[in-house]
Amino acid sequence: MSLFIKKPLEQLLTQAGDSDKGLKRSLGAGNLIALGIGAIIGAGLFVRTAEAAAEAAGPAVVISFVIAAIGCAFAGLCYAEFASMIPIAGSAYAYAYVTMGEFTAWIIGWALVLEYALASATVSIAWSEYLNNLLVSVGGSAIPYEWSHSPFETAMDGTRGIVNFPALFILIVLTLILIKGTKESANLNAIIVFVKVTIVLVFIALGWGFINEANYTPFTIPESTPGHDNWREFGWGGVLGGASIVFFAFIGFDAVSTAAQEAKNPKRDMPIGILGSLVICTILYVLFSHVLTGIAHWSEFKTAGKEASVAYAIQTYMPGYEWLATLITIAILAGFSSVILVMLMGQSRVFYSMSKDGLVPKVFSELHPKYRTPFKSNWLLLVFVGLFAGFVPGSIAGDLTSFGTLFAFVLVCLGIWVMRVKNPDAPRPFKTPLVPLVPILGILVCSAMIFSLGLETLVSAGVWMAAGLIIYFAYSKNNSNLRKGN
Ligand code: ALA
Repeated sequence: MSLFIKKPLEQLLTQAGDSDKGLKRSLGAGNLIALGIGAIIGAGLFVRTAEAAAEAAGPAVVISFVIAAIGCAFAGLCYAEFASMIPIAGSAYAYAYVTMGEFTAWIIGWALVLEYALASATVSIAWSEYLNNLLVSVGGSAIPYEWSHSPFETAMDGTRGIVNFPALFILIVLTLILIKGTKESANLNAIIVFVKVTIVLVFIALGWGFINEANYTPFTIPESTPGHDNWREFGWGGVLGGASIVFFAFIGFDAVSTAAQEAKNPKRDMPIGILGSLVICTILYVLFSHVLTGIAHWSEFKTAGKEASVAYAIQTYMPGYEWLATLITIAILAGFSSVILVMLMGQSRVFYSMSKDGLVPKVFSELHPKYRTPFKSNWLLLVFVGLFAGFVPGSIAGDLTSFGTLFAFVLVCLGIWVMRVKNPDAPRPFKTPLVPLVPILGILVCSAMIFSLGLETLVSAGVWMAAGLIIYFAYSKNNSNLRKGN
């Protein structure tokens, strides 16, 4: 039997429609947009904006955000067509199963672990750092270094980390909420989204009055700036380099598609959820970065304002608004929590689909008798993600997250094109415009961003993908329900 055996579209649609036994359909359009914003606004905005301005784009970081958004929009349009057409929990994995066959689907599913599981780990580590910031800024004392860092990290005074307890703590809390129910998780997410969006809006509104127009000239980093020796670090090249840094800020809108099987009206609401959250976040990002680089000069984010850049800008240039700096830290903590929540949820839903297909063990699709959530999968994920969060430094996982995401984007764009050729008459409640132009542009932009991730990340991702191949040939291929004729 071919390695690229394809699941018939009709079979997948029957599976998606079988909601009496499966996941509960409890989410409306508003919940889905909130889910998207929940996963999107996090470390990317609050940490990477200043980094991109200082290291690559200067005040033109606003254009970097627009470029990254355009790349995401191509992929988002393709996701929207698939998610409305095949409203099933597996997202990109499930789309690939019908369009490009089992082997490609497995590869995507495996890459999605990099996106969702590693993003949860990375962001929980960042959560731990910010919790310590907050504790200190409200006059308390920080959690001791050894209990808030991995064994691979050492403080200036020689103290060595043992385990990152706060990161484990937030993962456990969010896992418990996820097990309790999708609706409950969505409600908590909605509250968090409200808090973080409000604080972002307050920062934009109040910060606007403190913009110093002089900080915008010149608009890009001049080529003569000392310490800049790479084309991606100055001028318009730097604006492109900045786009690949802030791309991380957009990761997450695709997670909306993993909740397709829990949407009340997926045909209408999936495109609204995916594209709506992307548009709202893009507008917020452009305004936020414009204000941040207007309040403080970009070069300050290289030195004094490198850490906690937003709080630095407020404390230095907005006298009387120190309280806003504390609120921003709370927004960041809230923002990180919802990113982790939606990512953990996305991962368990991808495994749910893979398990239904026999490619990963059944335990990943066993539902809680009362809450109808994949609770065993949530517990197992907690162990896996917890190992990274508790014992590995955060820097290792961030770029791998971008790799997994971009890889899935490329294959989803390709899948839309394949589907239009192979199944031109299948009902499509939402149609990606200008096919194949939009998918081709999506593939080009996302591939370019993959190759700008750096050799080390590509090699680590290669090792991960190789491990996936071993598991596929040793386990999944022999247990595939499609191959067994089930
Ligand atoms: N977009 C998410 C963040 O910025 C992953 O944290």
